[in-house]
Amino acid sequence: MNKHSADATTAEEAIAIQSALDSDMATEVAMQDTLLTPRFYTTDFDELDAIDVSQISEEWEPLMERMRSDPNKGHFKKNEDWDKVDWEGMEPKLKKEFIDFLISSCTAEFSGCVLYKEMKRRGSNEDITQLFQLMARDEARHAGFINDALREAGVAVNLGFLTQKKKYTYFRPKFIYYATYLSEKIGYARYITIYRHLEKNPQYRFHPIFKWFQEWCNDEFAHGEAFALLMKTDPKLTAGINVFWIKFFLTAVYATMYIRDHQRPAFHKALGVDPDWYAEEVFTKTSELTKQIFPITLDIDNPKWFAKVKKLQKVNVQLADAKKNKNRFKQLWFSSRAAFIFLSLLAIPAKSNKVPNITSMEPAY
Ligand SMILES: [Fe+2]
Ligand SMILES: [Fe+2]
Repeated sequence: MNKHSADATTAEEAIAIQSALDSDMATEVAMQDTLLTPRFYTTDFDELDAIDVSQISEEWEPLMERMRSDPNKGHFKKNEDWDKVDWEGMEPKLKKEFIDFLISSCTAEFSGCVLYKEMKRRGSNEDITQLFQLMARDEARHAGFINDALREAGVAVNLGFLTQKKKYTYFRPKFIYYATYLSEKIGYARYITIYRHLEKNPQYRFHPIFKWFQEWCNDEFAHGEAFALLMKTDPKLTAGINVFWIKFFLTAVYATMYIRDHQRPAFHKALGVDPDWYAEEVFTKTSELTKQIFPITLDIDNPKWFAKVKKLQKVNVQLADAKKNKNRFKQLWFSSRAAFIFLSLLAIPAKSNKVPNITSMEPAY
């Protein structure tokens, strides 16, 4: 029997297995580069390679040990829990939004895989290359599993093709830390919130992939832990002007999630999830988690904060309309409106937080 990407022990192996499975119909969607769709990143790998983890070894070693033990090996493949999906009978709007959700999740998972794999390839620091190899392994399995689900709908993302052809955005290492740490932690919060909701309300589980979310989010949680520890090696990363950058990334990541989720009303309705409730849940959990390393959290309880995020989402809809109609004037107008609202969101004072001495946490939600 052919090997499955879930059993692969390296990212390269998992990608090769997935790429051999023909289909590339969704690649075009995954290739899109807009501000809101998942991007591919590259960075200064030498700077990353120079990180010394010896000062945090007490927390580093147990985390590496757990990741090396590979608790989720073989988990990310279909088994008897994978119920038959009625793609034909699925309401067209839901089908479209759900496929879009799967493609964008697959691209995001794969974007992590590509970045981590590259770091592993370029580095010579054993602590760092091992971490990145383990994370690339996990992300390749995640992307492969979503691709398995897409393939049933007659769609799949050609991962090998995407690696070569998608544009790469350069980010300085510190921006990679903030962005990646946050995307891992918010990823955990998103997966676990849906998982817990469907545990209580199984009638809304319209696709079997949600059953896999618990173990899935534990992988993301561990990746986030690793980035928290990497940031801990250099206290400058979470002090001074960098506190502003942390606020910027928190705001950008939360706002992007809010806007993107509101583009999928049928998907959220089918899940029985109000996207406003979901956003608040996910932001609250993420803020709680990021207190492990960030000296501030966004003041999401401030009524002005959500009001502005909602406004930003509405302007984004208008901007998309203007783009569709090729109305240059309206495009310019709504882009500047969006920029202005984003700046006013940033201007809301953050809550400060005393960062604990021990960084490591356990997934508790
Ligand atoms: Fe992942
Ligand atoms: Fe991850």
